[in-house]
Amino acid sequence: MSPETPAPAPPPAGYSARPLELADVEAVHRLEVRLFPADAWPLEMLLAEVGHPTRRYTVVQDGAGVVVAYAGMMAVGDTGDVQTIAVVPEHEGRGVGRWLMERMHRQAREAGAATMMLEVRADNPRAEGLYSSLGYERIHVRRRYYPDGADAVIMRKTLTPEGDPRP
Ligand SMILES: CC(C)(COP(=O)(O)OP(=O)(O)OC[C@H]1O[C@@H](n2cnc3c(N)ncnc32)[C@H](O)[C@@H]1OP(=O)(O)O)[C@@H](O)C(=O)NCCC(=O)NCCS
Repeated sequence: MSPETPAPAPPPAGYSARPLELADVEAVHRLEVRLFPADAWPLEMLLAEVGHPTRRYTVVQDGAGVVVAYAGMMAVGDTGDVQTIAVVPEHEGRGVGRWLMERMHRQAREAGAATMMLEVRADNPRAEGLYSSLGYERIHVRRRYYPDGADAVIMRKTLTPEGDPRP
């Protein structure tokens, strides 16, 4: 590995991570409904994502093996997209979300992406704060994008071989 490509950091202490498998989809869907009450993805959509060749999904487990977070990215051509990211409230604020974002940046770079995009609800300052601290910039607002009428903020970040800035 070249010196420009730092080794991936392990998940925060007490957590482990692995690729999402078909057997996880039902549990992840239950979390999805809980964490995104206004716009949860249907089970069928999650199932289609898992096996898709341009997607990489990750689950994070706590010490008891319970899935407490998940995230997925898509990389097509020179652009990666954060498809979803979620951490259950009892495990927020411990670095799991940041770690998942950095993992997706690495996966996208490895797939040849130079840019990462995402959309976030305009009424989600916590998530937007995390993305800003990782180098994302607002590039557009899609008015009333979500089913409940909330706006979507589109954010973009340039992926660098050196990896992500520290907060
Ligand atoms: C957004 C989310 C993924 C963050 O996960 P997390 O594990 O709590 O995040 P981390 O602990 O890694 O990092 C928190 C970062 O978010 C930001 N943050 C944390 N608490 C915050 C708050 N109260 N207000 C604003 N920003 C906050 C900070 O930038 C912080 O960075 P730090 O590393 O300097 O502390 C998580 O809150 C979540 O799943 N929310 C519900 C689902 C969701 O909104 N998903 C995003 C959809 S676009």
